Amino acid sequence: EKGTYPHYMLKEIDEQPLVMRKIIQAYQNEKGDLDIAEDIIEAVKECDRIYIVACGTSYHAGLVGKQFIENMAKIPVEVHVASEFSYNMPLLSEKPLFIFISQSGETADSRAVLVQVKEMGYKALTITNVPGSTLSREANFTMLLHAGPEIAVASTKAYTAQIAVLAILANVTAQSRGLNDGFDLIHELGIIANAMETLCDSKEEFEKIASEFLPFTRNCFFIGRSFDYFVCLEGALKLKEISYIQAEGFAGGELKHGTIALIEDGTPVIALATQENVNWSIRGNVKEVVARGANPCIISMAGLETNDDRFVLPAVNELLTPLISVIPLQLIAYYASLHRGCDVDKPRNLAKSVTVE
Ligand code: F6R
Repeated sequence: EKGTYPHYMLKEIDEQPLVMRKIIQAYQNEKGDLDIAEDIIEAVKECDRIYIVACGTSYHAGLVGKQFIENMAKIPVEVHVASEFSYNMPLLSEKPLFIFISQSGETADSRAVLVQVKEMGYKALTITNVPGSTLSREANFTMLLHAGPEIAVASTKAYTAQIAVLAILANVTAQSRGLNDGFDLIHELGIIANAMETLCDSKEEFEKIASEFLPFTRNCFFIGRSFDYFVCLEGALKLKEISYIQAEGFAGGELKHGTIALIEDGTPVIALATQENVNWSIRGNVKEVVARGANPCIISMAGLETNDDRFVLPAVNELLTPLISVIPLQLIAYYASLHRGCDVDKPRNLAKSVTVE
C-alpha cells in the first residue's frame, strides 16, 4: 500500500535508507560480520571470470557491480545486456560464472540466457528481489535484495539494493581470497543509509531543479566519468521512461565525439562530480557544453564542490557513491514526470516485468 504517498515511486525512493539497513542485517552472521552462503563463495573462488547478464536498470547496477568485483575481489568481470547475449555470445573463459541481476526474476531476455548457459553446463547466481521467481528457481544460487515489493514501473530501490548486494558479494569474496584491505563495508553502508536519508529530506531542492531545468525541454543530457557515468545512464533511463523527455547518459569525455552537436541554447546538462580523480576533467566537459549554450546543473560531492554546483551530496566512500548520487536523479525524474502531467507509476508502453523476449 502506498499509504499517504501520492505515488509508489516516491514511497519506494524514500524506502531506500531502510532497505540499506535491512540488507546489512540480512547478510550479517552471528559474529556481526558480512557473510554469504558458502557455496556462493566457493563458486566465485573457482571461476576465472564472471559474466553479469541483465536488462535495463539491472544492467546499470551490473556496470557498478563489475567495478566492485574487479576492485575488491580482483576477478575479471564482463557485463552484458541479456537480449544481445545469445547471438553475440562472447568467447567464454574456461571457468565462467554467470550472475543474473533481475528485480522481478521473471525477465524473459535474462531467462533465455540462463537456459542457454545452463545447457552448456555453467553455474549461475541470480540476484533478485523475488524469492521463488523463475530466475531464482532455475539458477544454482540466489542472493535476495530484501527491498520489499517494488510496484512503480520505474525501478528505484531495487537498483540501490542490487548495488549494495553486489558490494557485499565483492567484499565477502575478497576477504575469502585474503584480499581484505580493511574496508569496513558495514560501517560504510551505514553512512550511506544516513546520507540517503538526508537526500530524501531534500526533496524540495530536486523539485526546484526539475521545475527550473525540465518543464519544457525536448531533451536532456547527463554526463559523468567513471562511476558517475554509470549513474548517468540510469538517470537518463529514469527521466525517459516516466517524463518522456529524450534523455541520454554520456561519458564526459565521449560527448565531444559527436553528441555535443545536439547542445543548443538552453539544453539542460546534468553533470555528476563525485569522483576525485576525474573531478577536474568532468568540470572541463561542463565548460565545453556551457560554451555551446547548455544550461548546466552540477551535482557534486562534499569535498569536491565548487561555487558552480547546484547541489552538494554528503560525503561517502568513493566506491559507493552510486548509491547516493542516483537519488537526486530519481527525484528529478519523479518531479519532471509530475510537472509534465505524466502517469508516474505507470508510464505509457511499459510493463513492470517484461516476460516476452
Ligand atoms: C527501468 C526498469 C527496467 C527494468 C528491466 C529489467 O526503471 O525498471 O529497465 O530494470 O526491465 O527488469 P528486471 O530487473 O525485473 O529483470
